[in-house]
Amino acid sequence: MKILLVASEVTPFAKTGGLADVAAALPKALKQLGHDVRIIMPCYRSISQGDVPFRKARKSAEIELGGESLKGFLRQAALADVPVYLVENKYFFGRDYLYGSPEEDYPDNPRRFAFFCRAVLQLLKRMDFRPDVIHCHDWQTALIPIILRAELGDDPFFARTAVVFTIHNLAYQGLFRADALAEMGLSPALFTPDQLEYYGKVNLLKGAILAADVITTVSATYCREIMTPESGCGLEGVLQARADALVGIRNGLDTDEWNPAADRRIFRNYSAKSLAGKHADKLELQRELGLEVSSSVPLIGMVGRMVEQKGIELLISLLPRLGSERLQVAILGTGDRDSMARLQEFKERGVKNISITFGFHDELAPKIFAGSDLFLMPSRFEPCGLSQLIALRYGTVPVVRQTGGLADTIIDVTENPREGNGFSFSAYTADACWDAIQRALAALGDREGWRKIMRRGMSADVSWRQAAGKYEELYRTCLQKRK
Ligand code: GLC
Repeated sequence: MKILLVASEVTPFAKTGGLADVAAALPKALKQLGHDVRIIMPCYRSISQGDVPFRKARKSAEIELGGESLKGFLRQAALADVPVYLVENKYFFGRDYLYGSPEEDYPDNPRRFAFFCRAVLQLLKRMDFRPDVIHCHDWQTALIPIILRAELGDDPFFARTAVVFTIHNLAYQGLFRADALAEMGLSPALFTPDQLEYYGKVNLLKGAILAADVITTVSATYCREIMTPESGCGLEGVLQARADALVGIRNGLDTDEWNPAADRRIFRNYSAKSLAGKHADKLELQRELGLEVSSSVPLIGMVGRMVEQKGIELLISLLPRLGSERLQVAILGTGDRDSMARLQEFKERGVKNISITFGFHDELAPKIFAGSDLFLMPSRFEPCGLSQLIALRYGTVPVVRQTGGLADTIIDVTENPREGNGFSFSAYTADACWDAIQRALAALGDREGWRKIMRRGMSADVSWRQAAGKYEELYRTCLQKRK
């Protein structure tokens, strides 16, 4: 099959979240299944000015956007053996950030991503690459199914192209003022409740859900959750209306990138067979973070975006309790202003057994995954979550809230001692989380039993193999319906 993956971020070219990892790993896995897979994304300034080895000279292109002709360039790079096309336009993408500063989103985001989506469709024709499936991700690419249906419905070039649209996080919908419609070059006829209109605004995600052939999301539990008023972010009705075309496929993990036996970013390598290196990783991590160096004190790691979704409220309310116990906590991440300020305030109290590092720190994250005993993910909601999969693979036992993809991947040891690979709690309260941490600490006391839990997690298949197979099957069904 010919498959085009469209995303606004792809690791290692540009990344703000888990979407970028998926947009890189899925195409690689599909390529291994023998498909002609290609990726297309915007060429941000960090990419054009970075050290990406571009293949071939950049080609200039005129892109039509609402009757105007705008200049763009097409560049080409590669990810393993997957071609990556990059759409460049200095004005739209030559900026400091992908979507906006920490204070606010760029006000012209509708126009920026409309330019991108229109460029994708126009460039496919010019390259004469006719995909069987265009696989779009999140609201930044929503205009693709919308335009294909509203403007290119009769275009023979796309007559056999199916669109699969994946929702990585329903909280981000691409919600804009009504006049964004004109800025994106879309017809006012689309401003109806059964298309893009949403309480007087334009909702791009809604439009994509209604226009795509198939909608997927990144775990089976999240797929069920988003059809309920509690977790549907106002789109539960729209999703229910398309329930027949909505599927949950759980993400995998790039097991080449995340492999404790070969990871060069950690102090010592180890595997399920030989765990000695992990012990050394813990002591080195403690040293690097200025924590007391001791193998007997339990170390809890936490890496991720410090935002409401990730349970930052819960963490902040737990910090004083954690600070007074005989254990250590290593936190790494960056997030919204308010959460960062509150963490900073706690940091300034100088509690000795809690280390907080702000930022993305690609070097520190693997060391925390490798050096910790437990990995904490108290998410309020979690479409899939990748960190718990990394933690499993690194023998770091996850303590998670039972929601979305966390519920699908972590089996509680207390409930299921034979198959358990972690600890989970369901009420979104500090007490419930505390209880799960206490259960984990008690289990950690039994070294033999603990090693069994670690090994169970380390030997589970968390790769992309299963998910890639499911996407392949899904693409095939879409195609059959098209023909
Ligand atoms: C988003 C979700 C996360 C998911 C990732 C990749 O970042 O918040 O749960 O793992 O997308 O699908």
